[in-house]
Amino acid sequence: MKADPATEAGLLKPENIESSLQENRTFPPPAQFSGHARIQSMEEYETLCHEAEQDYEGFWARRARSEIEWRQPFSRTLNSEHAPQYSWFEDGTLNVSVNCLDRHLATRGNRVAILFEGEQGDVRQLTYCELHAEVSRFGNALKALGVCSGDRVVIYMPMVPEAVIAMQACARIGAIHSVVFGGFSVESLKDRIEDAGAKIVITADGGHRGGKIIPLKATCDEALAHSCPTIEHVIVLKRAGNKITMAPWRDVWWHETIASQSPECAPEWISSEHPLFLLYTSGSTGKPKGIQHASAGYLLGTILTMKWVFDIRADDVFWCTADVGWVTGHSYVAYGPLACGVTLVMYEGAPSVPDYGRFWAVCERHKVSVFYTAPTAIRALIKHGEALPKRYDLSSLRLLGTVGEPINPEAWMWYHRVIGQGRCPIVDTWWQTETGVHMIAPLPGATPLKPGSCTKPLPGIAADVVDEHGVSITQPDQGGYLVIKKPWPSMLRTIWGDATRYRDTYFPKFGGRYYLSGDGARRDADGYFWIMGRVDDVLKVSGHRLGTMEIESALVAHQKVAEAAVVGRPDEVRGECVVAFVVVRGARPTGTDAQELTHELKEWVSHQIGPIARPEEIRYGDNLPKTRSGKIMRRLLRAIARGQTIEEDVSTLENPEIVRQLAEPR
Ligand code: WT7
Repeated sequence: MKADPATEAGLLKPENIESSLQENRTFPPPAQFSGHARIQSMEEYETLCHEAEQDYEGFWARRARSEIEWRQPFSRTLNSEHAPQYSWFEDGTLNVSVNCLDRHLATRGNRVAILFEGEQGDVRQLTYCELHAEVSRFGNALKALGVCSGDRVVIYMPMVPEAVIAMQACARIGAIHSVVFGGFSVESLKDRIEDAGAKIVITADGGHRGGKIIPLKATCDEALAHSCPTIEHVIVLKRAGNKITMAPWRDVWWHETIASQSPECAPEWISSEHPLFLLYTSGSTGKPKGIQHASAGYLLGTILTMKWVFDIRADDVFWCTADVGWVTGHSYVAYGPLACGVTLVMYEGAPSVPDYGRFWAVCERHKVSVFYTAPTAIRALIKHGEALPKRYDLSSLRLLGTVGEPINPEAWMWYHRVIGQGRCPIVDTWWQTETGVHMIAPLPGATPLKPGSCTKPLPGIAADVVDEHGVSITQPDQGGYLVIKKPWPSMLRTIWGDATRYRDTYFPKFGGRYYLSGDGARRDADGYFWIMGRVDDVLKVSGHRLGTMEIESALVAHQKVAEAAVVGRPDEVRGECVVAFVVVRGARPTGTDAQELTHELKEWVSHQIGPIARPEEIRYGDNLPKTRSGKIMRRLLRAIARGQTIEEDVSTLENPEIVRQLAEPR
């Protein structure tokens, strides 16, 4: 009998399952939602689900017609002929930036679109009219530099309005953006530029974070030094004022490129399936995947989820704390809020500057009404106590959200009580870079909440928990694979340049019929979904996705390292942290040699991938525990990393004695 796949992979933390199994508190929608939200009751939710079941294509077609401004309407809703390469609304044409900006100019052009606060306290506002003009100017500047529809543009920027302007400008001219998180370093940036074959990099001299200046341009120079031949220009925003070098044949200042550009830029009318962006994310191999999203279906998903899940109102001040380097910062910073015409808040810096009250200070100052963040941020804030949030007036908040990893019920309760003051529903949203937008999430006016559960699939989303054979698991609380059984408009279209990997990664089982999320989940007796974590070799460190193989490749790229294996260990604040097992060339280091090498390797990984991948701990062995066929026994390594005693029989290993060596107390 095959073990539960999720438990087999060892990533389902039994301690979490047990505590969430005991969770039985429920929070019905408060009165201010149940009477007023877009979806007001579970009956209404079920009616929508029923509509989607009866007429799947019609369900999506009706919404695509009413939510999107089309240049040319579509006649064909879903094309599955080349499944799993699906297309949606394929004969329609539109422009995403027109849907985010132009459509609001007549009615709410003077409403603030972006409310920006820098780490050092500088505040800037851009109305929809102003944002439209800036996007147009920059779109024209890109065109003047030779960027055409379909060209790839890498954006490596701090969290400033220009990051959104750059994304929207690409959308306006049909260029495909690939945002690289500013916390990534040289190798990560270089790999992404090369894989995408980008023509332009847009960056800044530096960004402010944690009281320091992040030297983005310098990292960019290093990445481009001996590689990335497709890059023709680097556009540099002057932000932090740090000293940089400009390569005169290649580099241009942002302010100079837009100086003579018109604030009108005719939009490129693209087809629904035209790629809107690539976003690289980690999988279970060493090479990040360029997740490719299309235009119309993605846009539709962002608008619908803004309305359904955030129950967004015309006068909302919406703050999603995610960086534009992650999908959350695409869907719920750069696109969704703008498409809905609300005010979005952008904050450049760290939550700890000048102290851990910063998030609440920003909420108070800008009267944030909907606040969306990651469980890891909440847990970090819990550590700093209730006194900090209590100093601020949080009465403008009406709805809270979380994303990125499971939220433990204790953190949920704190968020609800201390930040939401018992008044605000919390929407725990399950989704992925690949899904584009929320898939399983509460509807704040309808769904009774359970702390720690992302509740039920959104209307039209065919989420299920299945066993090894693809059979739906009906037994409550039994874990299995989380799958999506029908294509949906905002799904990824492929992996950039690698259709085979797309198929093999997301449709490897069940006859290629179901999208495999890579997560394990269970459903309780009420049909609520509880996410149990990844079933592949992907870690979630502070909500950021990291492939163990990526970190391993970075480690073995170091001249002293012969072999490396990386696993995750539960961490109170970050969810998981990185533990590396390393075999060096030559004798196993001990004492101060080991300490020095550990320091060196941690720095090395930070420099190669980025500080988020920095190992928390490194252990050295003469070898790694392997099966006779040479497979590294990660389950054992995970147990060692957690300090658990190894009770199982290891005698079938190639080298059983290594387990004791690696587990030696240090
Ligand atoms: C993975 C996707 C979704 C945007 C940010 C992360 C985990 C995400 C939840 C949630 C439990 C969650 C899953 C998923 N995850 N949201 N509400 N509850 N787990 O996007 O980097 O593509 O990561 O994040 O493991 O597979 P991502």
